Amino acid sequence: MQVYLDNTATSWPKPHTVVDAISDYLSNYGGSPGRSGHAFALKAARIVFETRELLAEYFNADSSDRVIFTSNATNASNIAFKGILKKGDHVITSHMEHNSTIRPLRHLEQQGIIELTIIDCDQNGNIDLDILKSSFKPNTRLVSTIHGSNIIGIALPIEKIGALCKSKNILYHVDAAQTAGFLPIDVQKDNIDILTFTGHKKLLGPSGTGGIVIRKNIDIDTLIHGGSGSKSESETHPDFYPDKLEAGTPNTVGITGLKAGIEFIFKQGQQKIINHSQQITDYFLDSLSEIQELNLHGPGKGKNILPVISVTSDLFPPDKLASVLDKKYGIMTRSGLMCSPLGHKALGTFPKGTLRFSPGFFTTKKDIDYTSESLKRIITNKEYENS
Ligand SMILES: Cc1ncc(COP(=O)(O)O)c(C=O)c1O
Repeated sequence: MQVYLDNTATSWPKPHTVVDAISDYLSNYGGSPGRSGHAFALKAARIVFETRELLAEYFNADSSDRVIFTSNATNASNIAFKGILKKGDHVITSHMEHNSTIRPLRHLEQQGIIELTIIDCDQNGNIDLDILKSSFKPNTRLVSTIHGSNIIGIALPIEKIGALCKSKNILYHVDAAQTAGFLPIDVQKDNIDILTFTGHKKLLGPSGTGGIVIRKNIDIDTLIHGGSGSKSESETHPDFYPDKLEAGTPNTVGITGLKAGIEFIFKQGQQKIINHSQQITDYFLDSLSEIQELNLHGPGKGKNILPVISVTSDLFPPDKLASVLDKKYGIMTRSGLMCSPLGHKALGTFPKGTLRFSPGFFTTKKDIDYTSESLKRIITNKEYENS
């Protein structure tokens, strides 16, 4: 038996409509969107446009031309940070951030461009709004936080952080890599100026997809200049969105699959996806809590917002358990720091990290039963000792 419990890294399986859409594009109309006027190019351009429209609807963007396609969330955050931050800006972020936020910001700090404050979180990964408020300086230009954690099942109160930033005239960036496609996000209501997302996780698209949603009053400088299929007579890059931030041939294969992923989510309905996740996560947490050798991290049963469960044990390091689960039982998980070393420091699980289970929309109770039974067997028989 094979059980995939690493949906926080990337979701699998994808809906068959995603696979079919990709195959259809490659087999039947693989043109380059926005470049030529022939039938295939026009059809590809329409798919890209419709995907932009679907994303604009999902995030309640000001308009679909403010949805920019990138190759993933990391690429999106880099474009956003490096295109908007100027010398002397102060940026505040948190200990729960992924390296896709910490590393570009540390780079800008090391280059002497920005001043960076990384605020503490409590043991449950939450940000204290009073600590955030007390970190504001006259030159604070941007606050950047995750929406959902990739270590434990929490989501931050982005609407409260957004309102606070708005009241101080500070830009707010949200890293929605773990929540786009799972939780409702409204950039207008939540006062999010820049939202970055990835397409291959909860949006159920293929890898190589992601993007930025930029509010209408925000301008991001172009990092990459080149062909855009527009204003070809000009030797300089267009200054209108989305072309301004999308140089080069887009990932039409991926965007086609992403469109099918979003359509699948819309068809199922957000609530059904959330309900399934809560049932499976609570069911899993119940059975894990019976294993005394395990310490469970995160909010716990009934309170986990995202389907992410982290465990540790005093008996064995997380990577040993992950290895036996994979090699002997075919159960795929993730162990270690998960590109979030500061988050693990905040949770007290640094440097070994945790063993993470992340079910997805297609995970069944049978998968969970098999995983819990395998875990119990591994621990009872000390199978981790020989791995
Ligand atoms: C919270 C968070 N932000 C950003 C990323 C980066 O996403 P990607 O690898 O698609 O760029 C991840 C990936 O795991 C993540 O969990």
